[in-house]
Amino acid sequence: MLLTFHQQKSPPLATILWELERACFDKPWTLEQLDQETRKTGFLAFCSSASGTLHSSATTVTGKDSITPGCDMDWQCYSIWNYQGADQLLELYRIGVVPAARNQGQGALHLHACLRFLKDTTPFKRVLLEVHSANTAARRLYSRTGFQELYTRKNYYGKESACVMEWSH
Ligand SMILES: CC(C)(COP(=O)(O)OP(=O)(O)OC[C@H]1O[C@@H](n2cnc3c(N)ncnc32)[C@H](O)[C@@H]1OP(=O)(O)O)[C@@H](O)C(=O)NCCC(=O)NCCS
Repeated sequence: MLLTFHQQKSPPLATILWELERACFDKPWTLEQLDQETRKTGFLAFCSSASGTLHSSATTVTGKDSITPGCDMDWQCYSIWNYQGADQLLELYRIGVVPAARNQGQGALHLHACLRFLKDTTPFKRVLLEVHSANTAARRLYSRTGFQELYTRKNYYGKESACVMEWSH
């Protein structure tokens, strides 16, 4: 799998992520929210195309030069992360696969590729995430990728509980 490192400039990364959010989630993050996230220290995002090519944008983690990708990429999968260097902690905030490409192994492929890339570029020790307890597909994806369930936060999302999961190496 080809791995390309870049910071997207045109169209803005937040706009690309917003389109993917709206395609993948019932309750997408807003453009404003995404714009704020992309400016935060430790922000990371990855997008995979239909061909499986993984592109990344990590403005503040490694400070590598940016490469502007084609803006007409056929993105199928993406994820949003944050890396806190002081704690060597990665947090996985979002992962989405467009509905037409689901349940074909794309999510697992993307997550494995991201973790491989992050192992090579950051000295992280563990990854934490929170997932709706009722989100069977996501929980399955995470546990198949090697995440362990740490504990449940009851009624974390209103009446729904959240499951906190960890991946470490
Ligand atoms: C969660 C999501 C990213 C999974 O991506 P995906 O590409 O469909 O997942 P994969 O095809 O790689 O499957 C990974 C595992 O989950 C299982 N799975 C996938 N969809 C499933 C479903 N609807 N119900 C139960 N299990 C499911 C697969 O069978 C596979 O397990 P296996 O290896 O034991 O067979 C995708 O469903 C999605 O985008 N959902 C909406 C957004 C979301 O909820 N994101 C997660 C929270 S941030």
